[in-house]
Amino acid sequence: MTVTQDAVNLDHTTETLAAGGPDPEYFDWAEAWYPVHYVEDLDKTRPTRFTLLEQALVIWWDPQAAIWRIFADQCPHRLAPLSEGRVNEAGLLECPYHGWAFSGSGTCEQIPQAVPEAKANLSNRACVASMPTTVHQGLLFVYPGKSENAERVPIPSIAALEEEPDDWVLLNTFRDLPYDALTLLENVLDASHIPYTHHKTVGKRENAAPMQMDILELGKQGFKGIWPEGPRKGKLGTQHTTFVAPSLMYHDLTSKQFGRTLTVVYAVPTRKGRMSVIRQVPIQVFL
Ligand code: FES
Repeated sequence: MTVTQDAVNLDHTTETLAAGGPDPEYFDWAEAWYPVHYVEDLDKTRPTRFTLLEQALVIWWDPQAAIWRIFADQCPHRLAPLSEGRVNEAGLLECPYHGWAFSGSGTCEQIPQAVPEAKANLSNRACVASMPTTVHQGLLFVYPGKSENAERVPIPSIAALEEEPDDWVLLNTFRDLPYDALTLLENVLDASHIPYTHHKTVGKRENAAPMQMDILELGKQGFKGIWPEGPRKGKLGTQHTTFVAPSLMYHDLTSKQFGRTLTVVYAVPTRKGRMSVIRQVPIQVFL
């Protein structure tokens, strides 16, 4: 649960930039960090395909730098998907079509069909876009916007997990859903559905009651709120909810019955009407 990758410098010694870009009236979805995978589920021996904001990406392990890389999943030669290639013996991402091979920075290092004196691989047109990446709290994140902004934009993460990282039991799931990411986040916020939709699992119909969340902070980057009565007609205590735009929402509930429970949802927009949901339920049991 610690930062182990240094594709970008995240010490934030320079001035922090807010996610979403500088326009106060407009949130630029590209100017934010998104989780794309649990690191423990990635295979270092083969590239993995992922789609983010309608763009096909390829995730691959760069053995030379010992970090995860994310490129546009399109070879600059004849547009073949690099995710169907391989990491070759030299540690380069190799296109499956004609074998052009790329280093972690996206530079073309090999064109097998080129004559020895050719310099075509040095052209910018032979490069692949390599996006900033980092690993945080067990997740691989990518920054699809302007790469020069990446290290100044905060990672959307859970501060409580950093405070006592060994005290949590994590229940982690990953699913692709035919569901809009914002619709899913609205569902996470809408606690009033739980007594009915989740009757006999985490809810009971008889617990339906008026629900109110007081907003503590609100802005372009999200909000923080508190439910004074909390779920189950107040039987569990007060609940806090945080939204970090555009993709992270989590509830934080401490009760005598269950200890401290976080319900964390990253709703990652893949393409129109579709998303990947990264759901974590960290539980801290008080003995
Ligand atoms: S399409 Fe990739 S090397 Fe030709």
